[in-house]
Amino acid sequence: MKKIGIIGGSFDPIHYGHLILAEQVRVESELSQVVFMPAYISPFKQNTKAAEAADRLEMVRRATEGNPYFTVSDMEIGRQCVSYTAETLRKFQDKAGEEAEIYFITGTDAFMSIEEWRDAEFLLCYFSFIIGLRPGVSEEKLDRLIGRLRKQYGTRVIKVWSPKVDISSSHIRELISEGKSARYLLPDPVLEYIETEGLYRLDLSTEAGAGRAAEIRRRITDYIRAALKPSRLLHTEGVVKTASALAVRYGVDPEKAELCALFHDSCRSAGNLEHGRIAAEMMKKDYNILDEDMINAVKYHTTGREGMSQLEKILYLADAIEPSRAYPGVEELRRLAEKDLNGACLAVMEHSIRYVRERGLALDENTVRARDYLLKRREHE
Ligand SMILES: [Fe+2]
Ligand SMILES: [Fe+2]
Repeated sequence: MKKIGIIGGSFDPIHYGHLILAEQVRVESELSQVVFMPAYISPFKQNTKAAEAADRLEMVRRATEGNPYFTVSDMEIGRQCVSYTAETLRKFQDKAGEEAEIYFITGTDAFMSIEEWRDAEFLLCYFSFIIGLRPGVSEEKLDRLIGRLRKQYGTRVIKVWSPKVDISSSHIRELISEGKSARYLLPDPVLEYIETEGLYRLDLSTEAGAGRAAEIRRRITDYIRAALKPSRLLHTEGVVKTASALAVRYGVDPEKAELCALFHDSCRSAGNLEHGRIAAEMMKKDYNILDEDMINAVKYHTTGREGMSQLEKILYLADAIEPSRAYPGVEELRRLAEKDLNGACLAVMEHSIRYVRERGLALDENTVRARDYLLKRREHE
């Protein structure tokens, strides 16, 4: 009988932690093959486009190329819909034939809740499991569960100790976004692919980075067109134009400023206080933008904060003075913005502190600190 292990995951990107676990499981469980199966990620949840699934698949291909026991399946990604383990394994079994015994490779935490998975009974009756144990994990509860499942369903479970490899995909994404080295955390061919395709990084000075920016721009534009009411959309378009002009005026990358402007009110329905923070989270999670400066500009666009960067000030100011804004004094602010970025930010902060106090609303500490900081700097100038 052929023993086949299936290891799923988002592999975003695949790294040595995955590969070491797969190899160890293969040897210890005497598998004739380990199949890496990148998961499809729901576009509703992740806002991920198909090409990104293709990138993850290609990275897994490159990472596993040199190992004759490793193969890659596009079964989940190819279906373009969220699939449940039971369904995937059943399809895989059909393809592999009766003589193949399928082992699903999973972690302890996931396995502990296996009875809550969809079609759990079917899964437990027809398939076998390999659990990668990490040092420090308590085996007692797990053994009890394994014993019970064996009695109840005849489930076969193999435990394999996996070495503690402290590598995570999210850490790799972060390193790459900051332009730091991720070498030796993942195979070189994967890293080369990430570099040539400009994944996980928004370096607008490179061709790949510029391509990504254009793609992000298309996606967020589609998103806000569907999510925002017409007046908010008009406001956003105004912020894009104003932020771009201010960026050129003050030596900041206008493309970055425009992208931040497109994102800044994209989650406005989350409320006045929270929408900046939530939009910043969305940039990171769904668009893989990890440029700290851009993230902060969006996160603090309503309140400002102490020690704001030029980009942060530009978005903060553009939000207040874009062409569709109409309130007493806005014209003067627009003129001031042309020649004095700090002065104009300071004036907007004073204005909003006054506005909030007059109405007895809660004042955000960040705004007060941002104003005090700019005032102090002015004294020293
Ligand atoms: Fe806003
Ligand atoms: Fe806004």
